[in-house]
Amino acid sequence: MCGIVGYIGKRDAAPILMEGLHRLEYRGYDSAGIAVARAGELRVAKCKGRVRDLEKILPDRFKGSPGIAHTRWATHGEPSDRNAHPHCDSANRIAVIHNGIIENATALRRRLAAEGIVFRSETDTEVLAHLIAKMPHDSLEGAVRAALQMVVGAYGLAVLDATRPNALVVARNGSPVVLGIGDREMFVASDPSALVRHTQSVVHLDDGEVAVLRADGFETSTLEGDPTAKTASTIAWTDDAFDKLDFDHFMRKEIAEQPDAARRTLSGRLEPRFQTAHLGGLALDARELLEVRRIKILGCGSACISATMGAHLIEQLARLPAHAEPASEFRYRNPVIEPDTLYIAVSQSGETFDTLAAVQEVKRKGGRVLGIVNVVGSTIARECGRGIYLHAGPEVSVVSTKTFTCTVMAFALLALHLGRIRDLSTAHGGRLLKALSELPVQIESILARDAEIAELARQLLACEHAYFIGRAAGYAVAMEGALKLKEVSYLHAEAYPASELKHGPLALITPQTPTIVVMPRDDLFTKNISTVEEIRARGGPILAITHAGDLPVSVEGRFDVPRSEPELDPILLNIPLQLLAYHVALQKGRDIDKPRNLAKSVTVE
Ligand code: G6P
Repeated sequence: MCGIVGYIGKRDAAPILMEGLHRLEYRGYDSAGIAVARAGELRVAKCKGRVRDLEKILPDRFKGSPGIAHTRWATHGEPSDRNAHPHCDSANRIAVIHNGIIENATALRRRLAAEGIVFRSETDTEVLAHLIAKMPHDSLEGAVRAALQMVVGAYGLAVLDATRPNALVVARNGSPVVLGIGDREMFVASDPSALVRHTQSVVHLDDGEVAVLRADGFETSTLEGDPTAKTASTIAWTDDAFDKLDFDHFMRKEIAEQPDAARRTLSGRLEPRFQTAHLGGLALDARELLEVRRIKILGCGSACISATMGAHLIEQLARLPAHAEPASEFRYRNPVIEPDTLYIAVSQSGETFDTLAAVQEVKRKGGRVLGIVNVVGSTIARECGRGIYLHAGPEVSVVSTKTFTCTVMAFALLALHLGRIRDLSTAHGGRLLKALSELPVQIESILARDAEIAELARQLLACEHAYFIGRAAGYAVAMEGALKLKEVSYLHAEAYPASELKHGPLALITPQTPTIVVMPRDDLFTKNISTVEEIRARGGPILAITHAGDLPVSVEGRFDVPRSEPELDPILLNIPLQLLAYHVALQKGRDIDKPRNLAKSVTVE
């Protein structure tokens, strides 16, 4: 989704901004642009396409400071050179970059056009540039504030006035804005990844805040002009974490990082003395947790699937009814919020708009919500105020891999904690602790067998459709396997509960339609075997993701994962499916880290 980066200080802004744009590329975008101030004038370059296309059209002596730059993901108006940001006023004095949607843009546009303003794009953002320019204020800050009073909608924005180059003005309402504090220079971005090369010291703006950035510092205030107090925090991630190193793709690198990421999620949280998990960020004591009667988990995309696995873990280990639902659905169905339900929001980025809106809806109705989030200090983490950080390190590839695994591990810790407060025995708790601590090494052993999975992937190259099936938590593994495959390889993949196959999809099974069956050797193994027989009887090829041992049916391919405790098996069963999706996409020559039409962090509705 759209990305913002800005700089004010002594250095030339252009190379800093271009490098920042590269850092934001992973979010998904369709056009890019940059504006710098030089000798009282704006210099602007923008185009449809990649940041490298923008680099090609930058004039040789494109220099200046301060400056702002943007990656756009089209909402109002098609992806094109003229719709790319920054947008300027008619005199080319004010430049604006904007993430979000201005809802009353059409009305404002009509009013401005009636005053004679000629629009150069179809965007809602251009309206802001003209509005700011026409405000009769001495300061840029005053003009931005006055313009924003007229606007309804969501924004994270940065504004530059070439005739007043001593300040950049930024504002936030619903779309993230992070300030970076340097040594006599200031940075701004929509995402800390664009800042870490220059500073680890950041300030997160809250909704309804405006900030004025000068080379020697910043001030924040409300939209009405009342000063606000901010405390800087430190980003734990270093610049190297955003490097692809020797890997061909971030997806491959992040799959390989899973053992270490999983160790970090577990670090300091295993409590062998009481055979439980220690989760300091929950801020709920045993008595409060005992009063919880139900758990409702909300998230989008892979986060929602990890939530489904989390619900299974909680039901099994804590015997509490738990249910996962897409946050995007939940927020619009006027949900009943119950005082004895604990709500959990899951989000890698901590910025997904629908998940954030669901959290706000729960809170508005008096519900208690905790976050399972990767990005420290992100909006959802701050909005929840309590929860579990994954500490998985930055995830750059659009498709989620290591944070999926770490989220399920965080749920396992939470389920263990809730279980041990209730009826889970010390013996069972002890077995789970041991199994959790063994997971990183077991994941390593699966990753070492990459070549076996590349071979299985070859069997999917010729087909146009694939089914993924499983039962109970195995169905959630199938869902994530199918999602991963369609996201990166564009192959049509559908997940189905194995038990439901004969109620419909069996009609579509042919020798050209392979089924990937998630079939651990658990209580449901024989049921899964029966389903496999039904598929075989229709000539359907089978790839089994299972445990070592005889299979009483013939299959076209199989991959055996190491065994864990039955409740934790899904974590390991998912790993080969990540690699399967990667290898199919690789063999099909797809743009693995930036699949078409997808964005890493969906910060608009
Ligand atoms: C996008 C990404 C998915 C991700 C989802 C939720 O759709 O492409 O990979 O699972 O957003 O993101 P979150 O940051 O909230 O986990």
